[in-house]
Amino acid sequence: MILNEEQQAMLDGKYGEGAAYAMKIQVGIGECFDAPRMVPITRAHVALSNQAGDLWFAEKLLNAGAKCRIPPTVNPGFCIGHFTGSCAHPVSEEDAEHMRRTNAAYRGLGAVLSYNCTPYIASNVPNFGEVCAFSESSATPYVNSVWGARSNRESANSALCAAVTGYVPEYGLLLDENRKGNILVHVEANMKSDYEYHLLGMMGAKIGEGIPVFTGLPAHISPEALRNLGAQLNTSGAYGMYHIVGFTPEAPTLEAAFGGKKPQREVVITDKDLKEFEELFSDKAENGKVDFAMFGCPHFTLKETLYIAKQIEGKKLAIPMYILVSSDAAEMARRMGAYDILTAAGAELLSDSCPDQPCWHYLKGKVGITESPKCAYYPRRRGINFMIRDLDTCIEAALTGEVK
Ligand code: F3S
Repeated sequence: MILNEEQQAMLDGKYGEGAAYAMKIQVGIGECFDAPRMVPITRAHVALSNQAGDLWFAEKLLNAGAKCRIPPTVNPGFCIGHFTGSCAHPVSEEDAEHMRRTNAAYRGLGAVLSYNCTPYIASNVPNFGEVCAFSESSATPYVNSVWGARSNRESANSALCAAVTGYVPEYGLLLDENRKGNILVHVEANMKSDYEYHLLGMMGAKIGEGIPVFTGLPAHISPEALRNLGAQLNTSGAYGMYHIVGFTPEAPTLEAAFGGKKPQREVVITDKDLKEFEELFSDKAENGKVDFAMFGCPHFTLKETLYIAKQIEGKKLAIPMYILVSSDAAEMARRMGAYDILTAAGAELLSDSCPDQPCWHYLKGKVGITESPKCAYYPRRRGINFMIRDLDTCIEAALTGEVK
């Protein structure tokens, strides 16, 4: 791998021990993938997890004097103010301290403390062709596929290294030849709402490994649906990119999507596939009763928040409802009065928080309802179970306590 003068100086420690450490890791990654050189990035997103390994790495860089040249946005942990303050079920002092340390480490590194996993929709949006370093399941496919930017499927750690050095090794999805589709996915299912894109994304086992090219999808697809598709593709498999013919920028035609080559595989997805998955993936609720509803994995947008507020305005929820959003969306919901409507109905609008965090300790052993398979998938290891249904069914279940 050939480094330019500045990159070599960074590796040699002339920019400090932290930057040298980050560069050493990136050179190692580059060599694994036969990258010929490093190229500059203009933005990054770090999927911090607030877990022990993540904190260890961030503090190691910080203690070695690293500072982000490209301030990255970061993923959620949990809202420390809420879960140590007004919450009826506060976190343990140990968990609170862990989150405080995560906050201190990323602040020290110079990250943008956004604590949001959908920055590509609002606060960290690349232009077409922009080279960046995005980690997070829904983020990488979104910036590659929808915006036509270029990012490999970074880990939280490699994205943080990129933010520190300002460079990434040039390989994989940064190169034209690796951005062509190789699996043709005929969608015959009725994609009537954003929810079906969650289910379509969970078809990874059927789609197989590669870059899927979807046909048969509606002419208009919402940002929320595209967010759902990417999030679930990386829950059921590992996908850095997809194409939607006639919709995503690098797939104006089928031929362009495949770079003139024939697809290696063809797959058909039907309503039956989606329905079977929904049933198979849902935990059973006794007598159809659920204990809580949770939305926002990935984080809900303002539009979705306003939609729920409209559906439950003037009513009382039978069970708790948690809506996870970015701090921007939460603030806008406050200004617009939706926060008051949600709170009056008994819902909690939370920023900075993710379902896969220790703050939900009090939901252990309970069965929730959500529209997101990813929301159901991760908390299971914490003993929290979920049924998955479309958003309207979930809202209705929160109002009655039962799934119809
Ligand atoms: Fe976001 Fe956490 Fe879900 S990072 S996608 S809310 S698991």
